[in-house]
Amino acid sequence: MTLLPFPELTDPGNTDPSVDHAIQAIVGGASTDATCSTDLAEGPWTFDSRPGYGPGSSMGDVIPTGSPRQGELPVEYREADEADLDARIRAAKATLGDRVVVLGHFYQREEVVQHADYVGDSFQLANAALDRPEAEAIVFCGVHFMAETADLLSRPEQSVILPNLAAGCSMADMADIDQVEDCWEQLADVLGPLDVADDSGRMPVIPVTYMNSSAAIKGFVGRHGGIVCTSSNAETVLEWAFERGHRVLFFPDQHLGRNTAKAMGVALEQMPMWNPRRPLGGSSAEQIVDSRVILWHGFCSVHRRFTVGQIEQARAEHPGVRVIVHPECPMEVVDAADEAGSTDYIRRAIDAATEPTTFAIGTEINLVRRLAAQYPQHEIFCLDPVVCPCSTMYRIHPGYLAWVLEELVAGRVVNQISVAAGVATPARVALERMLAAKPRA
Ligand code: 13P
Ligand code: SF4
Repeated sequence: MTLLPFPELTDPGNTDPSVDHAIQAIVGGASTDATCSTDLAEGPWTFDSRPGYGPGSSMGDVIPTGSPRQGELPVEYREADEADLDARIRAAKATLGDRVVVLGHFYQREEVVQHADYVGDSFQLANAALDRPEAEAIVFCGVHFMAETADLLSRPEQSVILPNLAAGCSMADMADIDQVEDCWEQLADVLGPLDVADDSGRMPVIPVTYMNSSAAIKGFVGRHGGIVCTSSNAETVLEWAFERGHRVLFFPDQHLGRNTAKAMGVALEQMPMWNPRRPLGGSSAEQIVDSRVILWHGFCSVHRRFTVGQIEQARAEHPGVRVIVHPECPMEVVDAADEAGSTDYIRRAIDAATEPTTFAIGTEINLVRRLAAQYPQHEIFCLDPVVCPCSTMYRIHPGYLAWVLEELVAGRVVNQISVAAGVATPARVALERMLAAKPRA
């Protein structure tokens, strides 16, 4: 596993990676680019008192009632400018030294990523928690399920802090534990007892959850002989599951499930969708019996923005362009691209290109702009011309980072994410199965 230190820009003057600066320029009239919401120019605290995911790609999604809300950020952080917050974060980190480790997901704002001790995808960052067992506090600049995973994998004495509690994930929220339990019962009505192997030693269904899911879902999977996957090991994990079961129940992301199983040769007819709002998920009993992968009706609103039309346009305007998309994109988009892979796959593919290349990338805009700045020898652009970051990743603003770090300096842990023991034990089992699953030799 590679853990990335904060990546230095090869030529910071060449391209400004800041999505915030791009949005401010659009809203201020200095840029003719488009954004999906001018509200993105506001401080995210504007939205902490309102229900919803906030402006950005998930703004049309319905947030579950009872989702964590962030209390009011003290005014001194709301009113501080970028340079002031930068200085305060650096000073607090210097005071805390090795007592704190700051983790930054690839999709975080540039102004936050600059302060991260480790930058990576959700799997790499979960492991980074293991890499710094001496740190008393892990400040996770990412989203809620990532902080939960860090809590599951870190030492009990370590506190995991999410700088803005409203930074959930609309996709993770699409698989609610009650709906999943109900689905399991309905599947048992069709397939018989689900926790009993047949004569060949295989179970009727193995539940597989994407890392992008709540700890409660990971716990469910752990209790029922299942496993967690990430976008970088989904095929290995599905192989693991098919060795142990006749079929897989995959959640929450239908697209990662479909794209991975299709690449492994599973027929689309054997991948019925499970819509939790419909009886038997909207499928017939025969479809469930004949299935190999039952796909939960979830999706990522960032990756759903990418279209085949955007790829056709990129190819028309940039002959020879290399199109790489994330496997959370719809199947038609993955099929039309040259390659599909996790956020770290995309980064490594660009890093490995020895000749100047034009890349059109189908993933979150903060990562794409950062890669464009880091690799000025290549032309790198986002397939989606509209600037529309992940709503919830964008809720982590340097103001919240400065606040949680200064609270730590004052001896106070705020915004702690802690998974209840009853959920944590089986969730760890599911994560440990993933860590032990190896690709076929
Ligand atoms: P990875 O970081 O695992 O590639 O996931 C992408 C994503 O959508 C994170 O929220
Ligand atoms: Fe969730 Fe998609 Fe945002 Fe990742 S990019 S946090 S999957 S909504």
